[in-house]
Amino acid sequence: MNKTSIFLTLIVISALSLFFISCKEKKDNPDNMMNLPPLKEQFGEYFDIGNIFNPGDMSGGRINNQRLTRHYNILTAENDMKPHRLNPSRGTFNFITADNMVNSAISSGFKVLGHTLLWHSQIPQWQVNLRTDNTSKENALNQMREYITRIVTHFKGRVYAWDVLNEVFPDDRFFEDTNWREVMRAGPQGNPWYIKIGADFVYEGFLAARLADPDAILYYNDFNLNNPGKALMVHNMVRDVNAQYAQDYPGAGLLIQGIGMQSHHNITVSAKSIRDSLELFEPLGVLIAISELDVLSQSYGDFSRIPYTPPTEQGKTRAADLYGEYFEVFLEYADIIERVTFWGVYDEQSWRSRGLPLIFEGRVRSKAKPAYFNIIEALEVFQAK
Ligand code: XIL
Repeated sequence: MNKTSIFLTLIVISALSLFFISCKEKKDNPDNMMNLPPLKEQFGEYFDIGNIFNPGDMSGGRINNQRLTRHYNILTAENDMKPHRLNPSRGTFNFITADNMVNSAISSGFKVLGHTLLWHSQIPQWQVNLRTDNTSKENALNQMREYITRIVTHFKGRVYAWDVLNEVFPDDRFFEDTNWREVMRAGPQGNPWYIKIGADFVYEGFLAARLADPDAILYYNDFNLNNPGKALMVHNMVRDVNAQYAQDYPGAGLLIQGIGMQSHHNITVSAKSIRDSLELFEPLGVLIAISELDVLSQSYGDFSRIPYTPPTEQGKTRAADLYGEYFEVFLEYADIIERVTFWGVYDEQSWRSRGLPLIFEGRVRSKAKPAYFNIIEALEVFQAK
């Protein structure tokens, strides 16, 4: 044999062995997520299925993470489109990483959400300073408008929706008939725009985004919206801001068009509490996004306790069951839910990894956990009705 035929034989042998290994892999690992039918197709007629992405998920202008391309059709940057990244200092914008991510996602067929513009966390120093410096209200308002206009205009036509305002209501209070304008996050960790401008910043912020990109869907996004008091505050804010817009711009539709329910849950969160909030939000006529779903396999108390104790078997089963119950509710409200985005693909990658909060596990090969099979069962039951 000459060199060329030895070379060719070797190539054929390697190709054949790869083929057999991958067949065996498929047979032995039916729960490997790369062998499962794409979630985005299974849920296709009801809502989009999303996940988060990071710079490491792309190369050569495409999303190269096969786990993402197989199962999801919409992406949220986990950190790279937050205020501190896009606008590190006043007047200085850094769009390089975010542009690369957004363009790669679009080239690979994904829709992209912009996350997020007005927040109290992961913000640049100049926004931190607004909490305490002597910038006038008028100046702050202009700075906010400029900041929003610059970013939203930059991504116009590429980002299909924006989380304009994130987490403005605190979590440690019991709200009943409270006026939403008076109870937003203030104090040393508060939302700087609220502290400086007052509650009008909500209307003004959304308006600036609307003017910069009339086609983007504008969202308010928050966690624990299964908490009835917090949900009521969000409901009232959206109702009032949209009423003001209807007065100022008759016939222009809604200003806040969507509510993002982050859904960073744990085993104490009942499906009923989520359904109740959906019922509350429905008459507002807004879209709902389940925007950052993960469910700890333990209570939040156990998750944050020192010393830390890992989830029990019982906790894991409870979280898996809850995933199924939540999806029953999501499907019931599929008419208004436009997307269900998970905050991570597999447990080891999660920002709350030790609480085992996702539906897949395994860093090298991710396989489906019982939670995955429970959400598919919820789908089958729903379709059989
Ligand atoms: C989290 C990221 O997942 C972490 O990597 C980062 O360290 C902190 O932020 N609500 C949000 C998200 O709106 O942006 C947060 O993401 C999780 C809570």
